[in-house]
Amino acid sequence: MDKLLIEGGHRLNGEAEMSGAKNAALPILCAALLTREALTLTNVPQLNDIGTMLKLLAQMGVRVQREGQVVTLDASALDKPVAPYEMVKTMRASILVLGPLLARCGEARVSLPGGCAIGARPVDQHIKGLTAMGADTEVEQGYIVARAQRLKGARLFTDMVTVTGTENLMMAAVLADGETVIENAAREPEVVDLANCLVAMGARISGAGTDVIRIQGVDRLHGATHRIMPDRIETGTYLCAAAASGGEIRLTGTSAGYLDAVIDKLMDAGCDIRTEKSPSFEAIVLKAPDKLKAVSLRTAPYPAFPTDMQAQFMAINTVAEGAAVIRETIFENRFMHAVELARLGADIRIDGNTAFVQGVAALNGATVMATDLRASAGLIIAGLVARGETLIERIYHLDRGYERIEQKLTALGATVRRVS
Ligand code: UD1
Repeated sequence: MDKLLIEGGHRLNGEAEMSGAKNAALPILCAALLTREALTLTNVPQLNDIGTMLKLLAQMGVRVQREGQVVTLDASALDKPVAPYEMVKTMRASILVLGPLLARCGEARVSLPGGCAIGARPVDQHIKGLTAMGADTEVEQGYIVARAQRLKGARLFTDMVTVTGTENLMMAAVLADGETVIENAAREPEVVDLANCLVAMGARISGAGTDVIRIQGVDRLHGATHRIMPDRIETGTYLCAAAASGGEIRLTGTSAGYLDAVIDKLMDAGCDIRTEKSPSFEAIVLKAPDKLKAVSLRTAPYPAFPTDMQAQFMAINTVAEGAAVIRETIFENRFMHAVELARLGADIRIDGNTAFVQGVAALNGATVMATDLRASAGLIIAGLVARGETLIERIYHLDRGYERIEQKLTALGATVRRVS
């Protein structure tokens, strides 16, 4: 199993290009199921999660062509609306095939995702919404089995804000009979990117980016070409890495507009951040202060502070001046990085969904274990500032969501090496 060896204490300086967003690409790949015509996507990141989704689509009969960051999907021969347990268990986002399969084929058999490292993460809201649209749904031997001749437009209300839930229901509704209104919809930029792609395919959607999305069902969608939006979590992760290491970096291929809550906190921590913008180009430049100030935060749905940036901010707070309180309100078990950070000398106390972090003068390298994707990112940031060497085990989590991370960090001046 691969590990990452980091020699800490080097400032990050220089430029890196950000990749397309994993969490936008995953639902948008599933949108290809909704049409018999080809969907071409550009700026698709090369990540293990994307590979898993393409395999899942291929085993349903979708023809997949991939050349670098360009992926073309042709679902004209879609013949097996099934997502098997073996694939769903490795990636929860596989649930995103449920809505499109049901809308296009009138039936779907999708394995329940089960538990995962960061909490129970049920999919009851996906099922509730599809049922309200007229689907017969039951759980058979661990599989969600859903059937509907044609889904009917409905007024849907989710009990909590759910990102993939909103995306699944939006994809189901585009081919439904009549109007669907999703209330309490997720406002994440990735939901908007999916809506933009669906509209390019002929869907009629308004309100994406607000908490009420209206969809007028159409009879069919057609092919389209769509560029995946930049990865705001990857961008935020590199900004945190530079902030903690004391350097100055410039990130291209990204947009500050999706990162208000994160940039705001980095500025509170003392970073100097500016954007360079022209109609065709945008870059974010961050200059770290000599000493970071601790920043408290509370995770919540967009546009508030993202749970996917919580581990990275815990890492920077471990070496900041002062104390920070971090409240995690989205997932019930998302502090597993805290004990690993403590192995590097961090001072963190956990009480339920709250972490109290007292900054220390320095961290010291050690062997630590990555427990999930964003926890891994937090450990890398800590490793970059720790004295001596940090060895991160189980970095397969990292390969699910960060494209060419060693190359990008090395280009920025870090000393990072993958070891087997
Ligand atoms: C998505 C992101 C993930 C991010 C999360 C929150 C993708 C592929 N993944 O995950 O990176 O951390 O949003 O921003 O986009 N819930 C239920 N029932 C449901 C659905 C959700 O109880 O049917 C709960 C979840 O357990 C969680 C909360 O709602 O506590 C939010 O989850 P959700 O927004 O659905 O997360 P994902 O879409 O899985």
